[in-house]
Amino acid sequence: MNHQFIEKNLGVMIILIVIAVSFGGAIEIIPLMFQKVISEPIKGLKPLTALQLEGRDIYIREGCNVCHSQMIRPLRAEVERYGHYSVAGELVYNHPFLWGSKRTGPDLARVGGLYSDDWHRAHLYNPRAVVPESNMPAYPWLFEDILDGEITADKLAALRVVGVPYTDEDIAGAKAMVAGRTEAEALIDYLQQLGLLIKARR
Ligand code: HEC
Repeated sequence: MNHQFIEKNLGVMIILIVIAVSFGGAIEIIPLMFQKVISEPIKGLKPLTALQLEGRDIYIREGCNVCHSQMIRPLRAEVERYGHYSVAGELVYNHPFLWGSKRTGPDLARVGGLYSDDWHRAHLYNPRAVVPESNMPAYPWLFEDILDGEITADKLAALRVVGVPYTDEDIAGAKAMVAGRTEAEALIDYLQQLGLLIKARR
């Protein structure tokens, strides 16, 4: 079979391309499945508390991830600005990932502990109050909406199915932890733990 034959026969060409591409794909993907650094949590990693998990869902609902990435690349400029680059092991309990691909605002992967809760409250209520040039939207309703925690336990249970190590006590106590708190409290609790574990290790 010479090259001319392959180039003139579309069917043969397609089959050979598919074989070549799957071979290349397999070589890239299969070793990853067996690499522990990809699937094993870093030391000390704990699942989000029930309140933080609700905060994360509010983060997703409000589209914070559309303007903020949570993925620091191992490039000098990023590491100097944000802190240690993101590692797979700190993200294994994230379902879905919130890596993001757009940074209208700064990356938030290491924002935990960077500001006080009061700062976050003022900023979420009206970003211009603390950062005059900010073009981030204001989220005043987060301070009025009260969580009832009705389905929080179900969320934890669902995450347990995909491998997040929630205990029976976590699930049983989920509603009590969440009910009556404002959405802002949950969101800020979520923001305040982002990257803390990695920072503590440095
Ligand atoms: C339209 C884009 C946009 C959206 C949506 C958005 N932000 Fe921002 N955010 C920004 C910009 C721009 C800044 C930088 C100016 C500032 O600090 O306000 C910022 C800053 C921040 C900061 C301070 C980060 C730092 O390192 O100084 C936090 C925390 C933050 N945003 C959280 C949120 C949360 C939580 C949400 C969702 C409720 C959200 N943002 C939604 C654009 C956005």
